[in-house]
Amino acid sequence: MKKTDGRTRTRALFGGSFDPPTHAHIGIGRALAARFDEVIVLPARVSPFKQAVVPAPPAWRLAMLTAAFSACPNITVSDFELGLTGVSYSYLTARAFSAPGIDLYFAVGSDGAASFDRWARTDLLRELVTFYIIPRPGYPMTDGTLEAANRVVRAVKADFTGGEGSSTLFRVANAFGLGREVSPAFIADAARAAGLYGEYGAIVGRFKEFGLSDTRIRHIYGTAKAAVALAGRFGAGQDAAARAALLHDIGKNTEPNAFCTPAEAAELEKQPPACRHAPLSAYIAKRAFGETDADVLAAIETHTVGAPEMSTLQKIVFIADYIEEGRHFSGVERVRAAAQTDLDSAVLACYEETFSYLKKTDREISPQSFDAYRHYQVKFTKQ
Ligand SMILES: [Fe+2]
Ligand SMILES: [Fe+2]
Repeated sequence: MKKTDGRTRTRALFGGSFDPPTHAHIGIGRALAARFDEVIVLPARVSPFKQAVVPAPPAWRLAMLTAAFSACPNITVSDFELGLTGVSYSYLTARAFSAPGIDLYFAVGSDGAASFDRWARTDLLRELVTFYIIPRPGYPMTDGTLEAANRVVRAVKADFTGGEGSSTLFRVANAFGLGREVSPAFIADAARAAGLYGEYGAIVGRFKEFGLSDTRIRHIYGTAKAAVALAGRFGAGQDAAARAALLHDIGKNTEPNAFCTPAEAAELEKQPPACRHAPLSAYIAKRAFGETDADVLAAIETHTVGAPEMSTLQKIVFIADYIEEGRHFSGVERVRAAAQTDLDSAVLACYEETFSYLKKTDREISPQSFDAYRHYQVKFTKQ
């Protein structure tokens, strides 16, 4: 991609909310710097898709990005979009950075490549830039993806893959004191020192109060990471997925009495012991953590046995609990593979693997699980 003939230079624009910059962003920036003459990193002022949580101050994000790329001489971090008022439009940015003798590219992830027809002024974009589409985990790029993009804009596929790392993922890791897993150490430490990205601390900080062991807490962390990744992949709210996953096992070591009416406690008693904590966790989420989102509460309630007609979020928490990084049992890879592309087939695989394990260990399958399984089996064979 680099051109050194002295007449045309390649310039790649790399935009995003960078809230905060993650290892994935920095990896992409460096990979672009190795392929283009110059790279301009553009933190966005307004990110219309991330309303659920408060973004960090623009000046802080700019400072972090500048420090992160300080060792790369051909990367410039620009405050251009931070100076705009209202929503930033890509065609305005493209216009601002095009110049004679510059061959202009716009780096985007394959997750955004399906929606070019919804972008403003694609006629101008087609004239001004070539989109450089970077494959991202969970968003496979086919020839069809590229063809579809080229019907609307000019696009080529990058020869490298971007990593996983979202703002919500950082917020989850930060609540466990593990922000360094998602972002460089200096950014994770600066975020903590500045008290940024602390939303989920109010949940995680109470785990010990509910008697959760370190092993259980590690499992919850893994489940939340998996749920956030699945939410990104399948178009569910990442914040809702994080909250549901963080609270899904909160009732694992708690007696129902403090959080349920006697009638509710009696209902819980009717369920198999291994499944009771799921509805109890939903009661606790509602009554001790103030969770009001019905979908989040349902996802917590159904995470062990599932249900027919689950919402996207319910399926996500059901699967995330099964495939989180701490799970190593046989069959988990099959469910992980299915969850790359299709939630229903992952749900079905999850049931099949669980039933075969229960059979092998001579344990009973709950009728509720079996009914739900039949539902997805019928649905899947009809597709
Ligand atoms: Fe559970
Ligand atoms: Fe769990």
